Amino acid sequence: MKLKLVKTIPTDKSVIYLINKKNKLTKLTFTKAELDFIQQKLKDEATQITINHYSKRSYIQIIENDKPAHIIKENLRKAANKLLATINDHKEKEIIIVDEDSNSELAIAFAEGLTLGNYQFLKYFKDSDKKSSSLKTINIFGDKISQNEVDQIQNTAVAVAYARDLVNEPLSYLTAPKLAEEIVKLGKEAGFETEVFNKKKIETLKMGGLLAVNKGSIDPPTFSVMDWKPKNAVNKKPIILVGKGIVFDTGGLSLKPTKNSMDYMKSDMGGAAAVVGALYAIAKNKLPIHVIGLIPATDNRPNGNAYAPGDVIKMHNGLTVEVLNTDAEGRMILADALSYAQKYDPELVIDVATLTGAAAAAVGSQGIVCMGNAEEKTFEKLKKSGENVYERLVEFPFWEEYGEMIKSDIADLKNVGGSYAGAITAGKFLENFTDYPYIHIDIAGSAFAQTADSYRGKGGTGVGVRLLFDFIGKWANK
Ligand code: BES
Ligand code: ZN
Ligand code: ZN
Repeated sequence: MKLKLVKTIPTDKSVIYLINKKNKLTKLTFTKAELDFIQQKLKDEATQITINHYSKRSYIQIIENDKPAHIIKENLRKAANKLLATINDHKEKEIIIVDEDSNSELAIAFAEGLTLGNYQFLKYFKDSDKKSSSLKTINIFGDKISQNEVDQIQNTAVAVAYARDLVNEPLSYLTAPKLAEEIVKLGKEAGFETEVFNKKKIETLKMGGLLAVNKGSIDPPTFSVMDWKPKNAVNKKPIILVGKGIVFDTGGLSLKPTKNSMDYMKSDMGGAAAVVGALYAIAKNKLPIHVIGLIPATDNRPNGNAYAPGDVIKMHNGLTVEVLNTDAEGRMILADALSYAQKYDPELVIDVATLTGAAAAAVGSQGIVCMGNAEEKTFEKLKKSGENVYERLVEFPFWEEYGEMIKSDIADLKNVGGSYAGAITAGKFLENFTDYPYIHIDIAGSAFAQTADSYRGKGGTGVGVRLLFDFIGKWANK
């Protein structure tokens, strides 16, 4: 989708008018009959009104004014997605959003809903052209909207689409080496540097967790390092984002029971997709902040050489881990990446991972679980960004006592806790590999939508991209 800022309203194209109920409609160029029709609809509490002019249409979207700003914006994104169905039914290729209210944030939110909602993953269909939705260009007309705002929303929507593509790609295409290749390609497009460590290098670095999970695989592991370091960076110490890159999770020898639990495990690199998408958006929008992304990647599957329950693994930082469940593989690969992050002396490290069924069970598809030892005000900022982009976070406790649950009889740690607090014990496990301010984000519930969820669509949601972009953008401006 192309987004453009326009200075005139073309007369031959369909227009979406964003209208605050308080404002007078007479400013608009409607006939008396049309205005009467609109007034009648408004009396009936309509929020979306379509007026058909045969070759083009006017769509009227009523903006709420009695709710908090972030709710109004989210409702507009959702309304945009609803209107999108009508727009595509009418085979519109190009539309104009006219912001009568002159509130740039609202027009941008509406454009965002249209763009994100219009995403499709058609690569594997024979007749993908026929299935492709008609809308290709959104023009935005509004005196208060800047080119920069339009560019930002365009770049970020592209980043979300790339993240969704990565999640939607099955293992038959997206192996760990392929994921690394895709990261290099996106880096070239967006402007960040990428270095990919191969299995040899990973062995040299003694990343025992990543190597253990990879033992059952037929493909080698990869470890991708993305670096966005602009000359005008406001930070001396980098912010590091770490993403879980399990390209498919069978559970390994502790095999997942097939029905339902394994079907969508191609999405187990949703954390990696979020981090790659965030770096793409950060670099493409040239944010003045030094950010590094780390992606440990492999699939997790059983074979004759697979790591087994009871194995003791020596990790990158020298700690030993007793593996009691090979399905708790995410923490094994993330631990090595978090430990590797120490060498940068980072200002803050955030990992994003589809880590536990427990997090998904606790907050479902609408929530994101977070926890960590970073300052409370950092969490406040992250949660604020979460509300703003509507990828909302719930903070879980990170009390010391939970650490007791992952003590092993024969090694420094074990990779599973008890039957309770599974999301937290996973986070506490990871904390052992950090020596900096740290936040762990578990997106197990929201990375993949099995049923369509408004503009988030069905399949990979790209959750985390807009959250991290918003958070880091504000960090750069603090
Ligand atoms: N990838 C899964 C977590 C997951 C579950 C993500 C559902 C998305 C939806 C993870 O690797 C896993 O299997 N975790 C186990 C850990 C347990 C064995 C301690 C889990 O949550 O059951
Ligand atoms: Zn697993
Ligand atoms: Zn997993």
